[in-house]
Order: sequence, then C-alpha cells, then structure tokens
Amino acid sequence: MQIYTFKTDRELDEAGAGIVISLLRSVPGASLGLATGQTPVGVYEELVKAYRKGHISFKKVNTYNLDEYRGVGKKDPRSFYAFMHQHLFQHIDLPEEQIHIPDGEAEDVILECNRYDALLGNVRQLDLQILGIGLNGHIGFNEPNFRLSYGTHAVILSEETRRVNSSFFHSLEEVPEQAITMGVGAIMKAKKILFIARGEKKAEIVHRALTGPITTECPASLLQLHPDVIVLLDEGAGKLIG
Ligand code: PGA
Repeated sequence: MQIYTFKTDRELDEAGAGIVISLLRSVPGASLGLATGQTPVGVYEELVKAYRKGHISFKKVNTYNLDEYRGVGKKDPRSFYAFMHQHLFQHIDLPEEQIHIPDGEAEDVILECNRYDALLGNVRQLDLQILGIGLNGHIGFNEPNFRLSYGTHAVILSEETRRVNSSFFHSLEEVPEQAITMGVGAIMKAKKILFIARGEKKAEIVHRALTGPITTECPASLLQLHPDVIVLLDEGAGKLIG
C-alpha cells in the first residue's frame, strides 16, 4: 500500500487524475471502476481538463460504477447515473454503451444483480477501481456487517449513510433506503485500487481501515489484503496516519 498525503485538494486531484491518465495512455481500452460522492469529483474535473487538452480519450474505455440507489431512475437528478453524467460523462468522449451502472429501477433486483455480475465477469478484472470511504468504513455500499457479499447485491442503507447522503436530497426522508452495490469481490479483484479520502471527519475511519484489524465491520480494512492500493489523503483525512 502506497500512502500519499497532500496539502491541497488541487494537488490530490492532480495526483489522482495522473494515475488514471497514465493508465489510459498505456491501456486505451481500460476498464475503470468508478465511484460517486464528493470524494472523486475533483479528480473527475482534472480528467475532463486532460481530455479537453487532448491528452486522453475515453473512446475505448468501459466504466463500471460501484452502486446506484434503488427506486431512483436514470433521469432523476439524484441518481448516481445523473451524477456521473454531470461530473464526467457528458464532458468526455465515452460512448454511452460503454457506461455501466446498476439499474436502480430494475423490477427484479436479483436479475439486475446477476446481469451486473455477468458484465463484471466478462471483464474479469477491472484495471483500476476508484474508491472513497464512508464514515462507517463502507466501500461502495458494502456496509459494515458480520458478513460481506462477494457479488453485486441489494443493500439496506445504514441510518448513518442515509444521513451523510441526505445533502444530495431535500430531506433525510427522501434518501432511498436501499441500493444496489458491487460486492467486495469485484472491488478486491481490480488490478489497482485508487483509494481517496478527504477531511478530518474521515481521519479516524481511515486510520482504522488502513492500520486496524481486517474485519467485515470495517469493509475498507479488506484493502489491506490487496496487492496494489494507492491511497491519496488530504492532511485532514491523513491526520492519524504516521
Ligand atoms: P463521500 O462518500 O465521497 O461523499 O464522502 C464516500 C462514500 O460514502 O463512499
């Protein structure tokens, strides 16, 4: 695990984007695992800048998002599908058919999870997975539990996760109670993981995840088992890391 701490968001974003850019230069048809939330937004902005300058193309890339709310359709501005378009997809040359996100409106959730796993199975191994961490240690929407699922599955979101994500909604009541998430299997199988955390409020969980016991009660602690994780932290999130 390589851990880097940055003084400014800009430096962190450039470093994060730099890792994606070098991957796309060496593997133009890379498969990228993408995350939503506040954490990766600056990295996506840097990728858009690099694309506009002609430094990279996404024409041959396939993207696989970690998760989607259940009951929130693609056209709903609160969906992760809409989030990804707003922050990345609408600004780059990534063909729509190469964008993969679980369908939050699927009637049969088990079929949808199987469909997503089949897509991921065809890829076999994502070239790079971008990951944030929830305040409770979740990765994707794999919430702390006595057991974790390998494959894509439906989850009931914890109160804490709903509260944290309520900033994207008008009220806590509006935050969906369920989501579909990639399981820890596809995440842990990725060739490389780019793990990013920002802000002092994440300091404790980042410390637990990176240095504490490996336990399903802190899903991000599983990353200690992965052979190629690059950790990018701002000074707040890295406060407790030596
Ligand atoms: P955030 O969420 O980027 O909005 O902090 C991270 C996560 O929940 O994984």
